Amino acid sequence: MKFTYHNPTKILFGQGKLTMIRNQIPSGSRILLAYGGGSIKANGIYEKVLDALHGFKIVEFSGIEANPCIETLEKAVALYKANDLNFILAVGGGSVIDGCKFIAAAAHYDGDLWDIPRGVHQVQKAAPIACILTLPATGSESNDNSVITRHATAEKLSFDSPHLYPLFAVLDPDAMKTLPERQLKNGLVDAFIHVCEQYLTFPTGALVQDAYAEALLRTLVRLGKSYKDRETDEWRANLMYAANQGLNGLISCGVPSDWATHQIGHELTARFGIDHAQTLTIIQPSLLRNQIDLKREKLEQMGTSVFSLPKAADLAENTVDAIEAFYQGLAMPTSFSDANITDQRTIDSLLDIIRSRDFLQALGERGTITPSAIRDIVYAAR
Ligand code: NZQ
Ligand code: ZN
Repeated sequence: MKFTYHNPTKILFGQGKLTMIRNQIPSGSRILLAYGGGSIKANGIYEKVLDALHGFKIVEFSGIEANPCIETLEKAVALYKANDLNFILAVGGGSVIDGCKFIAAAAHYDGDLWDIPRGVHQVQKAAPIACILTLPATGSESNDNSVITRHATAEKLSFDSPHLYPLFAVLDPDAMKTLPERQLKNGLVDAFIHVCEQYLTFPTGALVQDAYAEALLRTLVRLGKSYKDRETDEWRANLMYAANQGLNGLISCGVPSDWATHQIGHELTARFGIDHAQTLTIIQPSLLRNQIDLKREKLEQMGTSVFSLPKAADLAENTVDAIEAFYQGLAMPTSFSDANITDQRTIDSLLDIIRSRDFLQALGERGTITPSAIRDIVYAAR
């Protein structure tokens, strides 16, 4: 096992931590305050941020949408440059934070900005960013990853750079109080699938990574089963911390991962506009069944340690059934028809796009998820 691990993001976790941000931002910073469609105004976070930043120069950019798109973000980049700003504060969920990572990278690049998501430009320098998280799900608040959409070509691409770790992230579970149920459930299962993507491959004897991944999976299953307690401080805090730990680079140290569910899921969002987490619950059970022989050992391990399933010849199959039942218990879609996509021509057009993408030709920890396997996975998920 070999890895280098360095996560520089300072986590400020707990109620009231937002008031500490003023001491975390270099004095004299000229701040781009970026947020989404207005939820932070409805729940009072906006006022608290302005209070905490009294005295700093602030320029606001609102309207970063779910699945942030370059068409919107280009305007923020222009605003950032025109006002000679030097710090970015993202207030929102994964979309606002991802959008701000893009703005941070674009602030130091003069070429075609789409070069950044498509990896033509490797980010070597970025503006400093920090975030106030309002939706636990993506882990974006303390990782180096960003996912950006381009509507003009219906593409959704991810990119990363060590220069994009936020300086600090405020995780106050009170921010979750106004989350609609749809977003709360999306967040819970997105976090669960992040851990799965870094765990459900093949055994490598990485005891620490496996045990921590299993602890996170058990926590998320427990939160799903105690969903009725979602209005409690304890429930919120546990989800916020679990989602953060699920994608901050720790559990993937030195072990194989398989991001195929996410990569296929991004195509579903780009093509059909389905919520990110919902694309994952549609694809993942079918993908696991398609790849079951390659993933059998880890699925059996997960069945025992996460779902407490009894030993059996079909333990791996039972584990996939338990994962699917977990999603269904939260009323998440687990098929295309659950998401009201029933037209075969529409599904085939998605497969045509997937076949045309260079980076979707050999997914999975062993490169076995080819376009023909994806066709079988998608057909089985109809
Ligand atoms: O725009 P506002 O008004 O803020 O409303 C948002 C949005 O409509 C709302 N919301 C957020 N916090 C709220 C709230 N509403 C009420 N109260 C609050 N406290 O929720 C809606 C969805 O927000 P969004 O940020 O889109 O959700 P999420 O955090 O799930 O982020 C999804 C995006 O992250 C990407 C996804 O692809 C998608 O684009 N991902 C980023 C990753 C990363 N950077 O590491 C990894 C993930 O796998 C994922 O791909
Ligand atoms: Zn995700």
